[in-house]
Amino acid sequence: MSETLERWSTRRAFILAVTGAAVGLGNIWRFPYMTGENGGSAFLLLYVAFVLLLGLPVMMAEILIGRAGRRSPMQALAHLAGQAGATPHWRWLGLFGVTTVFLILSFYSVVSGWSIEYFIESVNGNFVGQTPEEIGASFNAFLADPLRMTFNHTLFLLLTLSVVAAGVSGGLEKLNNLLMPLLYLLLLVLAGYAVTTDGFGAAVAWLFTPNPAAITVSVVLNAMGHAFFTLAVGACALMAYGAYMPDHQSLPKAVAAVAVLDVTVALLAGIAIFSVVFSQGMDPGEGPGLMFVTLPIAFAELPGGAWWLAIFFLLLLLATWTSSINLAEPIVATLQGAGLRRGRATALVGVAVWAVGMLSVLSFSAMADVHWFGEMTFFDLVTTVPTDIFLPVGGLLIAIFAAWVMPRDTVVRALDAGPRGFRAWQATVRFVSIPLVVIVLVSGLL
Ligand code: PHE
Ligand code: NA
Repeated sequence: MSETLERWSTRRAFILAVTGAAVGLGNIWRFPYMTGENGGSAFLLLYVAFVLLLGLPVMMAEILIGRAGRRSPMQALAHLAGQAGATPHWRWLGLFGVTTVFLILSFYSVVSGWSIEYFIESVNGNFVGQTPEEIGASFNAFLADPLRMTFNHTLFLLLTLSVVAAGVSGGLEKLNNLLMPLLYLLLLVLAGYAVTTDGFGAAVAWLFTPNPAAITVSVVLNAMGHAFFTLAVGACALMAYGAYMPDHQSLPKAVAAVAVLDVTVALLAGIAIFSVVFSQGMDPGEGPGLMFVTLPIAFAELPGGAWWLAIFFLLLLLATWTSSINLAEPIVATLQGAGLRRGRATALVGVAVWAVGMLSVLSFSAMADVHWFGEMTFFDLVTTVPTDIFLPVGGLLIAIFAAWVMPRDTVVRALDAGPRGFRAWQATVRFVSIPLVVIVLVSGLL
């Protein structure tokens, strides 16, 4: 255990680590395609509301549990429950979180593998001079090729686990912090380019004109799940990072900074991608392939496009890398808590995640006609249920534990926002966040 219990050296290091976990595929890949499938502005509005009312307060709850417990998630929960005179069964919440991040990591690695493929193809100049139709067709051809997909999935998993095995993410975090601003800059350039396209007006109207008619129960459920996913909340993954937090640092300030950045990145990606969609007359509801088709089209029209595209995918990979490390960390920490050495634990996680990820790889070829639930392939299922159901359920239990079970003094200290900050947080979690998750989950499941 002590092996994993380092401390972030500075307050800034903590914020940057949480930002690294937050900003990833959720912002640049998932946000645009979910918005496209869920009625545009209706989804955007709900997602922002859920970030404020649920994401932020529950994120604080999750991190403060880790900070107060200073152990791996399962052990922290058991320890704190004991302190409060509550049942040690709370530790199963940690295991539930681990199951959730395990499933998320399995497809995260596959989709990040798509970015590796697209990085290499961009370096080779493969998209130069292609029509939007050709770019779309080559994405479908790639999906239908399990060998190429397996190769990239394997490579990405190895990249992730080699950092996790080393135990210290120092090197990667440094690289991340150095290079992420460049990704934001590229997104700004892309959004700037988007302003000049014919589709920009339509994209902005579609994203920002209120459209309450598009709000359905499933849109609400999807938006709630996405708010948890994009902030990396609800799976006890940030709990593991909270355990390494310094003693004096205001939690609300730290998480607010992360949320602002996370939403900004998603908005920039959305504006860039939907401007291309509307200028090319494409379908915004195209699904998970959206980013992989629109971005090559957009960059193809910019001077030096092939290089910019390559740099973009490289930076995106870096962003997904720091997120996947956060996904893997609680799984490895839990196995370590069960007595395994870090190297063994990492190898075991690697094999298991790889195998389950293969079901996603094959969902586009050999297993395309295998339906796991309704019409859903394994990939459809694993990209929705853990995010839309498991994360909110985990977040709900985390919120109940922090706001109703933990002793007041422990929470006040771990939140580090003074007595008034504590009261505001507690009232929000008790009377807004918890009822809201319950209402959305119950109506979504019925
Ligand atoms: N927040 C990450 C993203 O937006 C995904 C993630 C979810 C990471 C849960 C860690 C835990 O891509
Ligand atoms: Na995110």
